[in-house]
Amino acid sequence: MSQTLQQTPAQTQGQEPILRIRGLGKRYGDHVVLKGIDFEVQPSQVVVVIGPSGSGKSTFLRCCNGLEQPEQGSVEIVGHTLVREGQMLAERELNALRTEVGMVFQSFNLFPHLSVLGNVTLGPRMLRGLSASQAEAEARELLQKVGLSAKADAMPASLSGGQKQRVAIARALAMRPKVMLFDEPTSALDPELVGEVLQVMKLLASEGMTMMVVTHEMGFAREVADVVVVMDGGGIVEAGDPATVFGAPRQERTRQFLHAVLSRS
Ligand SMILES: Nc1ncnc2c1ncn2[C@@H]1O[C@H](COP(=O)(O)OP(=O)(O)OP(=O)(O)O)[C@@H](O)[C@H]1O
Ligand SMILES: [Mg+2]
Repeated sequence: MSQTLQQTPAQTQGQEPILRIRGLGKRYGDHVVLKGIDFEVQPSQVVVVIGPSGSGKSTFLRCCNGLEQPEQGSVEIVGHTLVREGQMLAERELNALRTEVGMVFQSFNLFPHLSVLGNVTLGPRMLRGLSASQAEAEARELLQKVGLSAKADAMPASLSGGQKQRVAIARALAMRPKVMLFDEPTSALDPELVGEVLQVMKLLASEGMTMMVVTHEMGFAREVADVVVVMDGGGIVEAGDPATVFGAPRQERTRQFLHAVLSRS
């Protein structure tokens, strides 16, 4: 029988981290992409992951909701063992787990043939068993939260990038996730649209949502992150509070990376 989705007693008491990663290793052929990562995210923490292109940030995030299967180590998330030493949850449990782990991508990934409301109500109707009217009521609340009440009946193609991404966030929130993972949510946006998406993410953070965010938005990281993680070459170079990582980094590699990023902007 496959592993089942059981809450550990400690998790139900709120004692456990939302995410616990031990010795996470991932390779593509001979190319080692993640080199034995250990990391934890506590409830309501905002973790921002930064690092150069190819350092493994997306792979790391994708291993946390089962979009990639690591060969080594373990991932426990929202009280479930997602993967341990190459053994992944069965597809059915994986789908159930993904309802608790929201993911927002750079490229929005909205369903183009559904209206905004259709995008936000589909998951709750299919996977949470809500009636159409319940799902619509919840969706309208979420659209209000992301500032898009007026766009409920619009089709995705008619929206700006910033609006699309806010719909994508509302759609993820509609599943009532316990943690939200963001992979460069503003990288595909025109500069003037970045702020409206970051604003929504700040609101979520202030409401206590647990979040792990890969981003190049250093201002957001400084302002919102509890922990900044610097990745390079498939490993965590350093992790700490933003004041330390940005103001007094302990590692030379962090200094080099920040210098390169900040001199570009
Ligand atoms: N499906 C794949 N097959 C083979 N190699 C891959 C695959 N996905 C990622 N890689 C390689 O793994 C390494 C890490 O990729 P990853 O996308 O995790 O980096 P990243 O830090 O997110 O980079 P970026 O900032 O450019 O998004 C890169 O060298 C990449 O080429
Ligand atoms: Mg990436």
